Amino acid sequence: MRAQPLLLLLLAAPVAAAAQAPDDTPNAAELSDSSLAMGKALFHGAGNCSTCHGEAGRGSDRGANLTDGVWRHGNGGFLSIVEQVVHGVDHPTGGPTTPMPRLTVGQLSYRQARSVAAYVWTLSHAIPASLRPSPSPSRPRTR
Ligand code: HEC
Repeated sequence: MRAQPLLLLLLAAPVAAAAQAPDDTPNAAELSDSSLAMGKALFHGAGNCSTCHGEAGRGSDRGANLTDGVWRHGNGGFLSIVEQVVHGVDHPTGGPTTPMPRLTVGQLSYRQARSVAAYVWTLSHAIPASLRPSPSPSRPRTR
């Protein structure tokens, strides 16, 4: 039963590729400098992503390039990236012979998985102006 949402996602992915919803993005908090810095640290640390996807996410013989906007699994939208981080990729199609492992219990929390996915999303998407952190409000002048 647990596998069903993933199965649906995999079946829906080719259809969804043409219709990535404009709001399929990380939220503004996940695009803040501090949250993206955390995602980047997880990419190189506990998430272990850079081992296969390279230090800059440009890929290796063990994992896909995450910076080129070419998506073999899903539509490249934020939710699709979150799904891959959580569930892994069982059947690589671009050369690697070892699957991407799913997150194991205790490796990353769901919030951390979203944070690392938000970092990965920014490797191939510009942050929309509406989601850019607003500059801190200027203080009223006192004299
Ligand atoms: C053991 C190696 C390995 C690790 C660790 C790993 N991946 Fe992957 N990843 C892969 C492989 C293999 C694929 C599928 C590549 C293919 O089909 O050619 C993949 C695919 C992906 C995709 C989909 C790419 C596409 O073209 O659709 C994303 C996104 C991704 N990985 C993100 C991550 C993130 C984020 C992490 C860390 C949390 C991570 N991966 C950890 C090996 C790995």
